[in-house]
Amino acid sequence: MSRGLVLADGLEGVAAFETGLSLIDGDEGRISYRDYPAEAFQYDKSFEEVAYLLWYGKFPMTEKSEEFQRILAARRFLPKHVKLTVDQMPAEVDMMSVLQTAVSALKDCESIWPPSWDQASSIVSKIPTIIAYRQARLEGREMIEPRLDLNHTANYLYMLFGEVPTELQQTMLETYLVLTQELGSNPSTFTARVVASTRSDLISSTSAAIGALKGPLHGGAPSEVLEILREIKSVDRAEAWLRRALESDRRIMGFGHRIFKRQDPRSAMLKALALRFAADHPLVKLAVEVEETILRLLEEYKPGRRLVTNVDYYASVVLSVIGLKESLFTPTFAVSRSVGWCAHIMEQAMHNRLIYPQAVYSRDLHSHRPPAWFGR
Ligand code: ACO
Repeated sequence: MSRGLVLADGLEGVAAFETGLSLIDGDEGRISYRDYPAEAFQYDKSFEEVAYLLWYGKFPMTEKSEEFQRILAARRFLPKHVKLTVDQMPAEVDMMSVLQTAVSALKDCESIWPPSWDQASSIVSKIPTIIAYRQARLEGREMIEPRLDLNHTANYLYMLFGEVPTELQQTMLETYLVLTQELGSNPSTFTARVVASTRSDLISSTSAAIGALKGPLHGGAPSEVLEILREIKSVDRAEAWLRRALESDRRIMGFGHRIFKRQDPRSAMLKALALRFAADHPLVKLAVEVEETILRLLEEYKPGRRLVTNVDYYASVVLSVIGLKESLFTPTFAVSRSVGWCAHIMEQAMHNRLIYPQAVYSRDLHSHRPPAWFGR
């Protein structure tokens, strides 16, 4: 290994860049956007207000807030060629891949450097419409066109369900969307910044981030959480099911986090949200009842790893209660996280230096037997 080179597996413990967007305190289990702790705005700020804070550094006054909402709303509509691109994709192609392809096909944000807030707002506005358009096609119906009088959250639900959302749906989704807009150098945001650092365009950086978000170790976990809860079925079956799963080395989705070792504050906030609005929902009850058992058995089977409940455990519950299909969980994560990606891409562009870590050559890897799935 070259002198001075530090090898950090999975880049653990490495800071890749400075950011003024969020403070993630893994030891204390705290998140602040700019200087505002997430707990302070979880119920009373809209998607647009929090996006504005991340992008422009302060919460907007009423007039600015309305103007920003109008700007985003006006950009919701999809160009015809994007719809045609989506139509070309076979029904079996998963929503995240469709989203990635459709975002790549957006033409009004051409490949130019430097990126702009105009491009950012166009992408953030259109992501929900792409998802709703594809969903309509999968359900064999016409797309419900965006409504300009609804805010970002309400319009997304309206396009999916064809009705203005109930207060419960609106509040639950809005809270989820503001709590998940940003989280420092998480894998998808890091990916976006790496691509932006090459002076590639905002579209390419965003579509790369969508690819990273899709993985089950990152944003793809919530639907797998639901699968686990479905398999567990009831609290009395939990312990036996978990022992079998952990003895066969299965990962329990919704648990464990690279940064948060004491608590993921989003998990606590989403749990409180679920209990406040849907305490009697069977899924909420089951998730709350089995959480302690899962944590206890994770500590037993993986002692000292400090595996906490992460955002995706209660995200899966909240999104289900709202009525979203499982296939929409990760795409809905992209609806919110696209705000953070764009903020980071702009920050990267403003202080750009090519991100280019090194690799350490190792002959030892030649003799490693590949896992069975690898093939020949
Ligand atoms: N279930 C069972 N074991 C686990 C879990 C889990 N959920 N998470 C970690 N472990 C174990 C690993 O098997 C490993 O054990 P070992 O030391 O015996 O080999 C040890 O804990 C450390 O795991 P790593 O993968 O090295 O930890 P890392 O910090 O890299 O991973 C991650 C974090 C990927 C989130 C992991 O905890 C995980 O796979 N969780 C389940 C998937 C999930 O919920 N992802 C969503 C994360 S939140 C987000 O990104 C939006």
